[in-house]
Amino acid sequence: MKDHAPRASDRTVRLEEYAPFPWIVGDVSLTFRLHPTATRVLSRITFAPNPAAPSGPFFLHGEKLKLIEASIDGAPVSPTITDEGLTCDVPGTPFVFEAEVEIDPSGNTALDGLYMSGGMYCTQCEAEGFRKITFYPDRPDVMAPFNVRIEGPEDAPLPVMLSNGNPGAQEGNSAEWHDPWPKPSYLFALVAGDLVAKSGTFTTASGMPVALNVYVRPGDEDRCDYALDSLIRSMRWDEQEYAREYDLSVFSIVAVDDFNMGAMENKGLNIFNSKYVLASPDTATDVDFEMIEGIVAHEYFHNWTGNRVTCRDWFQLCLKEGLTVFRDQQFSGDMRSEPVKRIDDVLALRARQFREDNGPLAHPVRPESYIEINNFYTATVYEKGAEVIGMLRRLVGAEAYRAALDLYFERHDGQACTIEDWLKVFEDATGRDLSQFKLWYSQAGTPRVEVSEEWDEEAGRLALTFRQHTPPTPGQPDKAPLVIPIALGLLDAGGNEIMATEVVELTEAEQRVEIGLGTGDADLASDAPRVPGRPVPSILRGFSAPVILQRQTSAEERAFLLAHDTDPFNKWEAGRALARDVLVRMVTEGAEADPHYLSALEMVAKDDALDPAFRALALSLPSQDDLAQAIHDGGATPEPTAIWAALRRLAEEIGGTLEPVLSRLYDEMRVPGPYTPDAESAGARALRGAALAYLSRVDGGSRAAAQFAEAGNMTEQLGALGALLRIGKGEEELAAFRRRWEGDRLVMDKWFALQAASASPAEAHDVALRLTGDPAFDWTNPNRFRSVIGALTGNVAAFHEPEGRIYRLVTDWLIRLDPVNPQTAARLTTAFETWKRFDADRQGMIRENLERLSAVDGLSRDTSEMVGRILA
Ligand code: BES
Ligand code: ZN
Repeated sequence: MKDHAPRASDRTVRLEEYAPFPWIVGDVSLTFRLHPTATRVLSRITFAPNPAAPSGPFFLHGEKLKLIEASIDGAPVSPTITDEGLTCDVPGTPFVFEAEVEIDPSGNTALDGLYMSGGMYCTQCEAEGFRKITFYPDRPDVMAPFNVRIEGPEDAPLPVMLSNGNPGAQEGNSAEWHDPWPKPSYLFALVAGDLVAKSGTFTTASGMPVALNVYVRPGDEDRCDYALDSLIRSMRWDEQEYAREYDLSVFSIVAVDDFNMGAMENKGLNIFNSKYVLASPDTATDVDFEMIEGIVAHEYFHNWTGNRVTCRDWFQLCLKEGLTVFRDQQFSGDMRSEPVKRIDDVLALRARQFREDNGPLAHPVRPESYIEINNFYTATVYEKGAEVIGMLRRLVGAEAYRAALDLYFERHDGQACTIEDWLKVFEDATGRDLSQFKLWYSQAGTPRVEVSEEWDEEAGRLALTFRQHTPPTPGQPDKAPLVIPIALGLLDAGGNEIMATEVVELTEAEQRVEIGLGTGDADLASDAPRVPGRPVPSILRGFSAPVILQRQTSAEERAFLLAHDTDPFNKWEAGRALARDVLVRMVTEGAEADPHYLSALEMVAKDDALDPAFRALALSLPSQDDLAQAIHDGGATPEPTAIWAALRRLAEEIGGTLEPVLSRLYDEMRVPGPYTPDAESAGARALRGAALAYLSRVDGGSRAAAQFAEAGNMTEQLGALGALLRIGKGEEELAAFRRRWEGDRLVMDKWFALQAASASPAEAHDVALRLTGDPAFDWTNPNRFRSVIGALTGNVAAFHEPEGRIYRLVTDWLIRLDPVNPQTAARLTTAFETWKRFDADRQGMIRENLERLSAVDGLSRDTSEMVGRILA
């Protein structure tokens, strides 16, 4: 174990210890004298005592800064400097603090603060990167307007120099920017380099023109159109749906190759991982286009939910992230197919959030303590945070939701807020008491909702009894009942809808609901007359709450709902549950692929009235990880290799049994004409791709090879290559793909990721060695690291291959990456979060590797917190 003394910076930060900053920042002026290894940052900040806060020592955050000089009201001072910041004696009256510091952007491999990417200067300040730029109260509740002056290096002028806000004087080698909107330092941004823009304009609803730019490196300008169009759609949507207008004369997006996250909502100057900006039909897949649209929207929507109204402290992160994810999900549902979007979101929630919530890293949507805040940008804060807002909207209704949001923006514009502020606007707007609902923010764990049914034939009445319980999570042994909205529908034996969807609100540990048939529709009144014949309930429609529904259901009933449910989510869910049960039996009992499942699937595939995108989803099988989770939940120990083999066996069965309909679909779903990324074409391609993947299991790969050779777009090319790799073919195609795309880093990431993701358990180690030894594997770039190491850990059977070689290889790479880029290393440790599901041998090997990682001398705070929690 670690033998070095704990560092002061490793201490735990607690929500209950929040205290306001004792000063108010009036305004901030920054001058940057850019230099690759010795950038000078001059700051001038006005401070005044904060009457609303008890006085305290004057402390400014600052890390890895070389202080050149500092002054207060013009008089030089010599502050005390530690690893974490600066303290200094200051007057009890307003004063001006000035400092000059030197930083080294090119040595900044952590990509946090000011760094360089491909010769360009850029920043990432959320959550606590600004303190690596200059001394400052780097906390979200300190908000101020910023003036920024950027001076390019004399010997190498930079054509583009950007910061937040509106442009000021732009001279030969300098640029000034003024951001009038008070903002926290985490929203600061600076970009400078040789960039070109694809530009547009947007006129706001109140007639203000906004110049829009998507900045990229020269050569990439023909891959920006989709991002720019997505931005315009986002701006229009936020005006229409939330009455939110943009508030500066410029809005820019910059694409950066080296970026830890997906994208960042800096005020007026969003910075993106280039993977979520650059797209052309030949280099980006349908999924890439969809992601770009969603992420551009997400970051744009933050302008109101995050920037104008920000977070008081990082415990309130879900205030901006959960809400903004909810908004981007609504947007994508409106732009594309709402039910398909909902299914995709639930798939992601289950894959990432349920996994987190049911393991050692479980934490509440609003955590109560952290060591490193970057470790809390999690699926729980984001995805469960969004689900909580969805439930709130379902409970109060769409209109009251909008009224509450209007009130939120009106009341809190320019403020740094808490979840209490958020819930209060709902209480004030609706008169509802949300104290029990608030538990969703403080109680971790995925609630289980057990439903049992009683049918009273004589009375013609159906009674449903709901029992909820939430299993213990780290630090939270006992759980209270939550408010759970359950959307409920009823079908008669002929598959007709006999009750419009109703929302039942669970608030107790156990609750009984009676359903009868009134004169018209069925209703929930207990005195209602009889339902003719036993009805089939459709429970948790639209996935109305982020819970695990536990219900003893027959395969027949699932097949019935798959055929008849009018709620698209539950229709899909019935098929998914059927597939999961079949697979679990194949894995644990060595059962054969169930013919009833195959015929139910065939019926869906054949149903041309169904949206192709929906059919593609219905045809997809649960993931290896889903099955491991399901088997673990059932009280057994998942065997990854057996899961992998069962999935392959079922896919072969489907390919064989459904061959006629799949080959019809493969032919009919061909999208003619030039590629367009719209939802309809993408849906057809997705269904065609699903058909191809199954057919390849039985046609020796002939269709896939032909498709690969002819493909006119990346979706079809990559789909064909994936289908070939999964049947152990495609060697020539892989080589051809590489030759064609060698110079394109984003496409090469797909080449890496596809191989890592489709490696069989037996070949995983060889594949991993080959990929990590490839000259194109630039592991210091987060996208590349994730495309190999991340994809490998996502391939459950490969990651858990029985000899434990991949555990060792992944750990070795994390040890190598940690000192270079702790944030990215720490994130990837989540590969191990499910380790307690597996057998003793695997657990032993994983423990050994985690302990080896934990013992590394000088291990980052980021990684050591994660490993500590996973092992605990
Ligand atoms: N504010 C975040 C970016 C961020 C994340 C900064 C973590 C610092 C640490 C941004 O709005 C965001 O949420 N980005 C997501 C994508 C989004 C569509 C959910 C991301 O980067 O993954
Ligand atoms: Zn966000």
